[in-house]
Amino acid sequence: MHHRKIFAGIVFISFIVFGIAATTPPAENPNKNLKVLPKNISHEDLDKIMDGFKEALGVKCNFCHAPSADTASHHLDFPSDAKPEKDIARHMMKMTAKINKKYFSFNKDEAGKMVQTISCITCHRGNPHPGEKH
Ligand code: HEC
Ligand code: HEC
Repeated sequence: MHHRKIFAGIVFISFIVFGIAATTPPAENPNKNLKVLPKNISHEDLDKIMDGFKEALGVKCNFCHAPSADTASHHLDFPSDAKPEKDIARHMMKMTAKINKKYFSFNKDEAGKMVQTISCITCHRGNPHPGEKH
């Protein structure tokens, strides 16, 4: 009688534990060093944004991302902040968001969501240095 109660208790507890494990996202966050974008951003959304930066500035990923410290590897070290361009890009992201919020907040779609009127390409147009005279 007593044993059956303990057994039932263990079954119940393991249900709770497995239930929590099944609903919580993986503890390991793949994005290690996000300071502007949401930390839990999906892989697809991050990819889209990064591709957008590449197109808007007319550069490759290595314009902002430093090479891996392991010289045998040909990969970029994406979380690294070694290249100053990456931090400038963070300032640009904040500036762009601010311009949209402050000066274009009247631009809303049918759902009432703010439209991102200004984006990197508005100024850069495929050029990393839009400040320079041509
Ligand atoms: C104009 C600069 C720029 C370019 C070009 C760029 N990135 Fe990024 N990338 C950033 C910045 C800035 C962050 C960090 C954003 C933040 O702090 O929220 C970032 C973050 C990332 C991260 C997340 C790293 C981590 O774990 O913290 C990945 C992955 C990444 N970029 C991949 C790419 C790929 C792939 C490309 C080329 C298609 C690319 N990036 C092109 C500026 C750039
Ligand atoms: C309102 C116009 C404007 C917008 C919007 C804008 N930029 Fe810029 N950005 C500039 C100007 C101008 C410069 C050049 C500044 C200079 O020459 O000192 C620049 C410089 C940069 C640089 C430094 C390039 C270098 O070699 O030093 C990076 C990186 C950059 N922008 C990324 C971005 C990203 C990413 C976005 C979108 C999130 C963005 N910018 C949006 C105007 C803009």
